[in-house]
Amino acid sequence: MPIHSAPTDWILETEHTAYALGVNNAGMLTHRYWGARLPRIVDYPRPQDSDGWASFNGPGEVLPHEFPTYAGSSYVEPCLKVTHADGVRDTVLEFAGANAKGDTLVVRLEDETYSVRVTLHYRVIEHLDLLERWVTVENAGAAPVTLERIWSAQWHVPSHADYRLSHLHGRWFEETQLERERLGRGVKVLESRRLTTSHQHNPWFALDRAQEPATEETGEVWYGVLAWSGNWKIAAEVTAFGSTRASIGVNDWDSAIRLEPGTSFTTPPSIAGYSAQGFGQASRNLHGLIRSRLPHGDATRRVLYNSWEATFFDVDAKSQLEIARIAADLGVELFVMDDGWFHNRNSDHAGLGDWFPDAKKFPDGLEPLIQGVRDLGMDFGLWLEPEMVNPDSDLYRAHPDWVIHFPTRARTEMRNQLILNLARTDVQDHLIGVIDDLLAKHDISFIKWDMNRNISEPGWLEHPEPRELWVRYVEGLYRVWGTLRERHPKVIWQSCSGGGGRADLGILKYADQIWTSDNTQALTRLKIQEGFSQVFPAMTMEAWTTDQDAAYVPLQFKLHVAMAGSFGIGANLHHWDEAQRAEAKAQVALYKRLRHVIHGGELYRLRSAFEHAFSAFTYVLPDRKEAVVFAFRTHIPEPVALPRLKLRGLEPDALYRVDGVQEPMSGAALMVVGLEVALKDFGSAVIHLERVEEPEPG
Ligand code: DGJ
Repeated sequence: MPIHSAPTDWILETEHTAYALGVNNAGMLTHRYWGARLPRIVDYPRPQDSDGWASFNGPGEVLPHEFPTYAGSSYVEPCLKVTHADGVRDTVLEFAGANAKGDTLVVRLEDETYSVRVTLHYRVIEHLDLLERWVTVENAGAAPVTLERIWSAQWHVPSHADYRLSHLHGRWFEETQLERERLGRGVKVLESRRLTTSHQHNPWFALDRAQEPATEETGEVWYGVLAWSGNWKIAAEVTAFGSTRASIGVNDWDSAIRLEPGTSFTTPPSIAGYSAQGFGQASRNLHGLIRSRLPHGDATRRVLYNSWEATFFDVDAKSQLEIARIAADLGVELFVMDDGWFHNRNSDHAGLGDWFPDAKKFPDGLEPLIQGVRDLGMDFGLWLEPEMVNPDSDLYRAHPDWVIHFPTRARTEMRNQLILNLARTDVQDHLIGVIDDLLAKHDISFIKWDMNRNISEPGWLEHPEPRELWVRYVEGLYRVWGTLRERHPKVIWQSCSGGGGRADLGILKYADQIWTSDNTQALTRLKIQEGFSQVFPAMTMEAWTTDQDAAYVPLQFKLHVAMAGSFGIGANLHHWDEAQRAEAKAQVALYKRLRHVIHGGELYRLRSAFEHAFSAFTYVLPDRKEAVVFAFRTHIPEPVALPRLKLRGLEPDALYRVDGVQEPMSGAALMVVGLEVALKDFGSAVIHLERVEEPEPG
């Protein structure tokens, strides 16, 4: 039973963790505990009481409110701020009941004066030590109210400790850079104001103790994400009373939601967990959840070829088939034609919005190419950028009012394009119609859904609350994508936004994989991919080998870096000589033999690429029968003796046959003594380990 429920007290237990909340004597819903699971229910702290501390600090500031609102004398970050119909701007919630059923707890709160009802939802994901929280606000009154802020959760960690905050920052071409910093008093804000999740920050946080820092495999870590593909905010706050919490939700910056009488708004979920085994276990738990919820879950990720960096906008059936032939020979299973195939698309100046084949490039439509690719034994995939329009397009000429804009301002173009307002149902319906038609007419197994600019002039002035744009746009995007997925369930979708600009758990309800970065230089990728792996599993991490790298980076190194994810090639294969093609062919074959471990295995990061020129990680199957080790050496001045790699996750008593090692080794030896890996500068290794049965004695 994951939920222990008393009338005003609740304890949510997972396999190794517990989370407790309850109503205190003053009727305040307080947070009680989040950490290791304890043996007895009575062990968990009771809800605290306090009248405040001084005339400057009321109880709302001293006690950990489970879901603080903007009200009374509380100055901490609230999760809810409402402007009521009469202009009153605070919300005083009282406990109104609760209901626990199976893995879900629902706590109902009601404003003491106004007809605003708030429901807190908690789902216990027992085997992954995770909790999922979301909130519904309902306007049960007779007049509209405005939600100025509505966040999904405030996650409290134990008080009176110094914390470090880990987060992922970056920019285009350099996403998911891992940063750890001490969290001082005050509020540290991470957010997106760009309409998408953003390259700049990812909606993930991890807190560990600054005095007893966690490592990859040891120490306490509290972590969480927001499953949302639009503007978001994380406010990590340390109060004057040493209470630390991370609030997370859709961004309230420039945003508001008008709730008409009888309507409600439900937030996206925040998923969080506590790990007593460091950052590694935190990642593995998130990976487990994501894998279990992906649209195509365990389906084998096909080796992909993408023609973008080979042919750019210069595509036609002949050029694509020429390159497809070489790709097929290397063992590629899915051929994707990128940008440039549709009406009038010869550069990034025109065409977006007109999703039908360009008559000059494809006089007989897409069929001859698709058939040609199929005849080569590969599936066919196509690039789209549905949310965008070039002013030079038939769509824009017909519907200039469909783009996001302020009527009195110039429409700022970025990459010569504007953003269709997906908050509008007519725009959504148009996109559903056009893409549905394309998928119905052609045998397309994969769509790369791209999005190549951030927002400007965020107008939607015809709407009663124009600031709803930020939220309704994302809901519209989900509706379009969700409808298409329902109608074409076999299609695999990739989420791309100029690389990793839309990487989050919200989009992974629709997409199976994410284009991690436009930067495919293997040396930079080692860090980008390690940052990405904090949250996302390898099967979602699309990685290609291209021609972007410096000449001194060997092809094998580049291939190995890309093989650590959902592997693809994006190089101009015409430029590869026989030896390079043979190398690629061998590595594609190796990847196909090992991908069930790479994608189905648990990730253990052994040596960080952010810290070491000799970096490594391993994937281990849950039954511990197989593992794959990836090791990379960049430049280290000689003389140098590389340390042995102490592996993780193996069965200590089992024997493993290790690629390149003559005698089988015990799991204990591999984990305690370590595995010797000899690498020269820019050398790499992919090493397979397989459990062998010990011979019967005698
Ligand atoms: C940005 C993507 O990240 C690239 O891979 C490519 O698809 C281009 N857009 C095409 O315009």
